[in-house]
Amino acid sequence: MTKGIILSGGWGTRLRPLTCTIPKTLIPIVNKPVIERQILLLKAAGVKDIVLAVSVMGDILQNYFKNGEKFGINIQYTEEKSPMGTAGAVKLAGDLLQEENFFMLNGDVILNFDFTQMIKFHDQYKGIGLIASKIVEDPSRYGVLITEEKSNKILKFLEKSEYTPPEGKDVPMPINAGVYLFEPEVLSYVEPMKKVSIEREIFPKLANEGKLYHYAISGVWKDVGKPEELLEGNILLLNDILKNIDKKNLIDDTLDIEGKALIYPPVAIGENVVIRKNCKIGPNAIIGNNVYIDSNTEVKDSLIYNEAYINKNVKIENAIISDNCVIHDRVELKGNGQNLIILASFVEVLENIKLVAPPNNSITVCHHEIVREWKELNKL
Ligand code: GDD
Ligand code: MG
Repeated sequence: MTKGIILSGGWGTRLRPLTCTIPKTLIPIVNKPVIERQILLLKAAGVKDIVLAVSVMGDILQNYFKNGEKFGINIQYTEEKSPMGTAGAVKLAGDLLQEENFFMLNGDVILNFDFTQMIKFHDQYKGIGLIASKIVEDPSRYGVLITEEKSNKILKFLEKSEYTPPEGKDVPMPINAGVYLFEPEVLSYVEPMKKVSIEREIFPKLANEGKLYHYAISGVWKDVGKPEELLEGNILLLNDILKNIDKKNLIDDTLDIEGKALIYPPVAIGENVVIRKNCKIGPNAIIGNNVYIDSNTEVKDSLIYNEAYINKNVKIENAIISDNCVIHDRVELKGNGQNLIILASFVEVLENIKLVAPPNNSITVCHHEIVREWKELNKL
């Protein structure tokens, strides 16, 4: 039976301050951690045993998933004292992955596709590795695949910064989607007890030997690298989920909504949310569990995580509001396009404060900060 290993050991620096208190892979995507969604997709494909390769904030992940029983899957852990690199991490789990082929996933990619198709595809070839690929417009931010169309072989694997686009201009290319299916033999390519990158050191070798193939995946795919990608990824996945269930919104039955509140689809609302009268929610509002939103408040193009408390007459647009934030009366949080207002966990914004993102920058507030006035923010 195919097994799985998911990597969740990076620092998530580009997502700070959101990743100061939780690991990147536990950040909710449409109200479920991105890594939990991956685990459920693997489970749906028949995978029963998963290794989580953890390092930075590994204890928080272990505490969330424990032995996997709650999620109906067996979960074991490997722990790196300091990050061992993407290949070093999988080598460390060697004993658990020796017998069968296994999926390996970057724990920070949003996906929604059927993994069994990938197993079938792998069975047709005699490769050591199969890389899920996706064609993107801006390939230079990813591992780029130079492929042979007929055979699906990867002729060259070029990790970020190793690829130069023709004439310096980005053209759509297949890239490494961060999902692999390996034969255990791959482990023999990795030196033990060393920091090794699978992308920079192992894939080029396998490609050279003609043992690396790619499989073009369909459906939603997004790497959660930066905050604006987090917002885009949530909206993409929400639309995909809604399309599959043929609904306009994804709203939990426990929603307590008072009188006239307007919901503009698409909207996702988690468990035990209260929305008071005359609020306008959506489009593109994703609200977590146990959130309270008082009257006359407007939320659109934004993410609000669990346990947030939003008071009256608040306006929220193009913002990410982490768990346990408190927003007082008449606050305005207004990002524009990719420039967001980002509040980390436990931030409090006092009455009448207006945070408007400048044209080329996001405004970020660190966890546990109290925003009293705009002046103070400039110092952060
Ligand atoms: N355990 C462990 N140890 N995990 C790690 C380590 C490590 O040393 N380093 C990174 N990871 C995990 C991260 O937590 C993340 O889930 C995943 O490996 C990928 O790391 P990123 O830092 O997010 O890499 P990236 O997004 O810049 O590039 C990678 O992903 C792209 C697709 O999303 C590469 O694999 C690219 O080739 C690929 O296109
Ligand atoms: Mg990434």
